[in-house]
Amino acid sequence: METSAKIALVTGGSRGLGRNSALALAKKGIDVIVTYHTQKEQADAVVREIEKAGRKSAALQLDAGLVVSFDGFAAALSELLKDKWGREQFDFLVNNAGFGVKAPIAETTEEMFDSLMNVHFKGVFFLTQKLLPLLTDNGGIVNLSTGLTRFALEGSGAYAAMKGAVEVLTKYLAKELGARGIRVNVVAPGAIATDFGGGTVRDNPQLNGFIGSVTALGRVGEPDDIGGIVAALCTQEMGWVNAQRIEASGGMFL
Ligand SMILES: NC(=O)c1ccc[n+]([C@@H]2O[C@H](COP(=O)([O-])OP(=O)(O)OC[C@H]3O[C@@H](n4cnc5c(N)ncnc54)[C@H](OP(=O)(O)O)[C@@H]3O)[C@@H](O)[C@H]2O)c1
Repeated sequence: METSAKIALVTGGSRGLGRNSALALAKKGIDVIVTYHTQKEQADAVVREIEKAGRKSAALQLDAGLVVSFDGFAAALSELLKDKWGREQFDFLVNNAGFGVKAPIAETTEEMFDSLMNVHFKGVFFLTQKLLPLLTDNGGIVNLSTGLTRFALEGSGAYAAMKGAVEVLTKYLAKELGARGIRVNVVAPGAIATDFGGGTVRDNPQLNGFIGSVTALGRVGEPDDIGGIVAALCTQEMGWVNAQRIEASGGMFL
């Protein structure tokens, strides 16, 4: 009989990099709970795909920027873990949910700033905090950052600053959770062709060509370039990798 599988929770698993990470985790034999914000049908389709691959899966709704909802989310997650897995805890948290808003700093409104802050930093901080009792010892956390913390492109100041904060938070989480054997790393993708930011990297030929021209490997990234890294970080082979920023950009702006 199979020993019980590990369980990962991927926020924003309905589309893009979260979806790709969820499928890659399932390929590694890990069961996956995905969260969605608005796209329930897409999340349900991911669940079906994971089940087809022979793993258990489920979808939960989450607004990753609404801290006041996190106690309710943790309660729903606890119930799901008990009902579907007979467990009280899960093994890996992937803080992936996010969206893009572009504006030069001079034109960034407080509303834009707050919406980015709530989802990309405050939400990551407090969702992780709330889920710590549900995360098993010797498990792991993978946060999502961006290449934009290393190089600067006009219009991404507020967004990139929040991701920079997530990179610092990653180190502090690793420091404080090390005693529980929990590893915490951050993956920093370059520009990837998803729906992100209105899908411009994928759909705007000018931007797509520009990014390819400043990337050593000569093209923009695809979701398949990222999910496998997130999944690999949730395996014992990567068990000694901790508190690291792993950039996956094909070599942008070298
Ligand atoms: N694509 C890139 O070029 C790129 C590069 C570097 C880093 N990243 C980072 O990678 C992560 C995933 O991006 P992506 O490219 O996969 O984006 P995407 O294709 O637009 O997918 C975004 C995902 O996040 C969810 N989401 C958005 N706002 C949310 C909220 N307020 N609460 C909960 N979930 C929310 C969406 O849920 P619904 O579909 O249910 O609404 C969806 O599952 C983000 O953190 C992003 O900053 C992306």
